[in-house]
Amino acid sequence: MAHHKLKYLSGFGNEFASEDLRCPGSLPIGQNNPQKCPYNLYCEQLSGSAFTAPRTGNKRSWLYRIHPSVLHLPFERTQLGNVTSDWDQNDPNPNQLRWLPFEIPSKKSANVNFVEGLNTICGAGDPKTRNGISIHIYACNTSMETCCMYNSDGHFLIVPQQGTLYISTEFGKMVVEPLEICVLQQGMRFSINVDGETRGYVLEVYNTHFELPNLGPIGANGLANPRDFLTPVAHYDDIEIHNFEIINKYQGKFFKALQNHSPFDVVAWHGNYTPYKYNLTKFVTINSVSIDHCDPSIFTVLTCPSLNPGVAIADFVIFPPRWSVQENTFRPPYYHRNCMSEFMGLIIGAYEAKEQGFLPGGASLHSMMTPHGPDADCFEKASQSNLQPGKIAEGTMAFMFESSFSLGLTTWGENTCCKLDKEYYLCWQGLKKHFNGNIA
Ligand SMILES: [Fe+2]
Repeated sequence: MAHHKLKYLSGFGNEFASEDLRCPGSLPIGQNNPQKCPYNLYCEQLSGSAFTAPRTGNKRSWLYRIHPSVLHLPFERTQLGNVTSDWDQNDPNPNQLRWLPFEIPSKKSANVNFVEGLNTICGAGDPKTRNGISIHIYACNTSMETCCMYNSDGHFLIVPQQGTLYISTEFGKMVVEPLEICVLQQGMRFSINVDGETRGYVLEVYNTHFELPNLGPIGANGLANPRDFLTPVAHYDDIEIHNFEIINKYQGKFFKALQNHSPFDVVAWHGNYTPYKYNLTKFVTINSVSIDHCDPSIFTVLTCPSLNPGVAIADFVIFPPRWSVQENTFRPPYYHRNCMSEFMGLIIGAYEAKEQGFLPGGASLHSMMTPHGPDADCFEKASQSNLQPGKIAEGTMAFMFESSFSLGLTTWGENTCCKLDKEYYLCWQGLKKHFNGNIA
């Protein structure tokens, strides 16, 4: 099916049911596991939470497939990309860090697919104990075609920056373009095809699932609305493929197994544990309409909560185009130090607090309690500008992965990628003393 004609199911975390239209009645009625499934399919449950998790957080889906996914040869260790969960490769680095746009490999030099082009930049914690996060950059130029991946360690939140992702999953197909994001949850097999040079960011969370943030006094609507999250509809491939590769990320390392059929052979499925995507331009932005700033938590799209109330393992936050109307207010982000780690990326445009050096496809990391804020130019301009209502961040979409973990840099992030901007600190060195003790 052409990707632009794809259909989706709407809603966040709903109990969905879907069957490929080629096989009406393929979803068993009234039970999950009949002695004989319609069309002689195999029945398989994918559990995304402990069996006994409370109903509000219990996630599972039932898949009705041509072959059960156990039909494969043994896994063997394989080296792909620069993925790791070893955060002690280097000494900690508390500096403000900024990366110039990460390089996309040219097809002239090598064919690199999504998995081969995954590079871990920083993270914390341990997939063995399911507590922590990783932040990866993907940079690729080739489709995965006859290989797929699944992640035993956690959930992937993918933020495309350049190039469309054509994603096949066991639940069906999704197209995810820049300004959209998708979540591929633990265990779900996926294969990503691309048109050419393609780049983006991945937040991997080992802990629990992404959720919509609570809205508190905002009320029942706003920020990312549940109905704007889209899940694929069932689509099966009934094809024999010699040596289809199943890539597994397990305890921070890649393993490969072979099988002779497509893993995307699910004819029907039902459940609430699915991949999904979201268009960031649908975000309903909330902000102050009198004075001062709301904290950036007001821009949270998805959160992965810790057991500590109000403290996130990781938040995914965006800075979309919006009106800025606050009176008597320094409108750019305020100077601050944070007990959380802030990793930022830029999908398109120019970020308001630093118009130079923070570029689409690049990144920054302001670590725990590391001071940061507008550069000298931004401060001077914004302190003296005429405060009319104005549209800010037009044509721009910056985002932040904010985490309560203190992040360690990988060797790739600090050295091998060769994109760390050693002169980042200079952008604040021009901040002048304006204090005059005689004038209030
Ligand atoms: Fe910050």
